Amino acid sequence: MSRPLVVVNLKTYETAHGASAENLVKAIASVETNARMVVAVSAFDLSAVVNAAPNLEVWCQHLDPVGFGSYTGWLHPSTAVERGASGTLINHAEHKVSIEHVAMLLDAVPEGFTVCACAADIDEARALTALQPDYVAVEPPELIGGDISVTTADPAIVSGTAAAVREISEQVGILCGAGVKNGADVATAIELGTIGVLLASGVTKATNPKEIIEDLVSSL
Ligand code: G3P
Repeated sequence: MSRPLVVVNLKTYETAHGASAENLVKAIASVETNARMVVAVSAFDLSAVVNAAPNLEVWCQHLDPVGFGSYTGWLHPSTAVERGASGTLINHAEHKVSIEHVAMLLDAVPEGFTVCACAADIDEARALTALQPDYVAVEPPELIGGDISVTTADPAIVSGTAAAVREISEQVGILCGAGVKNGADVATAIELGTIGVLLASGVTKATNPKEIIEDLVSSL
């Protein structure tokens, strides 16, 4: 079985950008765990974060399926790879794209580059799974940034996504997110059929993020 995965999305939180992002990723990297720990960072902070925490896996929050050339302002996968990214989120609830964008991105990234496609519900998870990303993360938008974990508020969407993804693919890993805050939420996510979680505010807003990470991975 693959290692459990914990992805911390720094979004554009004030406490998780620029110099604060560097401090936060150092705290995350200092936690000893069997889990696969990943941070998803702003494109601006990618190089700085990779330098600050060289042993941590660093993903982008979004990429565009463009090549070299005339693509002003777009986020080019090859540049992300050159700057140390080993994966990306795509189609996050806060940065939706078309299914064609996801398919083209999967074609554009190199072998071994991890793509986690985000889904708002089970139907979207099914459609994304058919494209064979490495992971599909289900996150009900209305629970994102809230105090109640999806694993408590809507366990059926987590187990339903797990079942739906498995009907289509044995390979695609399943994550859930929205409101995930502690180790008990992570343990429940695994019980419901996922391989881990995608979270943000539980870590980015924490007074002591290292303690939060230690708790998050305590059951893994
Ligand atoms: O990408 C993770 C995210 O959307 C969940 O955010 O703050 O509910 O953990 P949060």
